[in-house]
Amino acid sequence: MERLVLRRKEFMLLQAFIYEHIGISLGDHKIYLVQARLAKRVKHLGLESFGAYYDFLVADKQGGELEYLSSLISTNVTSFFREEKQWEFLKAHLPSLLAKRGGKLRIWSAACSSGEEPYSLAMFFKEHAPRDKTYDIKILATDVSAKVLKMAMKGFYLPKVCSTVPSNYLHTYFSCVEHEGQRGYAVNENLKKMVLFREFNLVTGNYALFEQTSFDIIFCRNVMIYFDKPTQNSLVEKFYALLNKEGYLFIGSSEALTDMKKGFQSRSASIYQKV
Ligand SMILES: C[S@@+](CC[C@H](N)C(=O)[O-])C[C@H]1O[C@@H](n2cnc3c(N)ncnc32)[C@H](O)[C@@H]1O
Repeated sequence: MERLVLRRKEFMLLQAFIYEHIGISLGDHKIYLVQARLAKRVKHLGLESFGAYYDFLVADKQGGELEYLSSLISTNVTSFFREEKQWEFLKAHLPSLLAKRGGKLRIWSAACSSGEEPYSLAMFFKEHAPRDKTYDIKILATDVSAKVLKMAMKGFYLPKVCSTVPSNYLHTYFSCVEHEGQRGYAVNENLKKMVLFREFNLVTGNYALFEQTSFDIIFCRNVMIYFDKPTQNSLVEKFYALLNKEGYLFIGSSEALTDMKKGFQSRSASIYQKV
């Protein structure tokens, strides 16, 4: 099959479209990456050029292709209990947080990918909130990609994906099952019940949906790196508004708020608190 070449003009159209609709800011040097990631999709759709793919995207009013495009452009890499130090911090601060909030915590995993992050949060709270008390702890988990959300809701993971889950947690919160001919681990219902999955685009999403909501903890890890500074800034402002006083914002270890801290105080590497 003939190799598809992404022309500069076509790249510029896609670059602007991706920025406007997904919020991801692609530098000019990303032309080869975009070509490599999208070529298979363009061919699969039977289109003869990237320009035709751009027209297809613009004409797609349902947004299904936009969602597909976002999963091709951004990475969904994630893992259970990613960034160990942040979990240690959370463990140390959980008692005071629970006391302050009267045992009611609302958490948002804002780019949850295939579910490892929100399920880690759910396991964490089940393990570390004192067992002699009743708590009301709920996790909202959102992502722009319907594809990863489907995986998250299914909650089935291969053994290698579960390698960072402590074996006693695996025993307590998962069942060993066979799914589509593969053995793996399925998240138990009692854990699933703590997590509500929804599709939400952090950049173009309607934040009015959160009008009645506030959070004690927001995890927005390893996604802001794809956004440019103004987009990151406006996101941090939204997180600030959505957090309760003394609530925490966790970001990825390769990210930092530096010049856009707003009213946040840095508490540890990549952990900020609303003061
Ligand atoms: C690298 S994963 C990070 C997953 C998890 N937070 C972690 O740190 O392990 C980035 C996720 O961000 C999602 N994403 C990219 N752009 C987004 C946007 N505009 N709104 C919401 N999610 C987005 C991707 O679909 C992907 O699942």
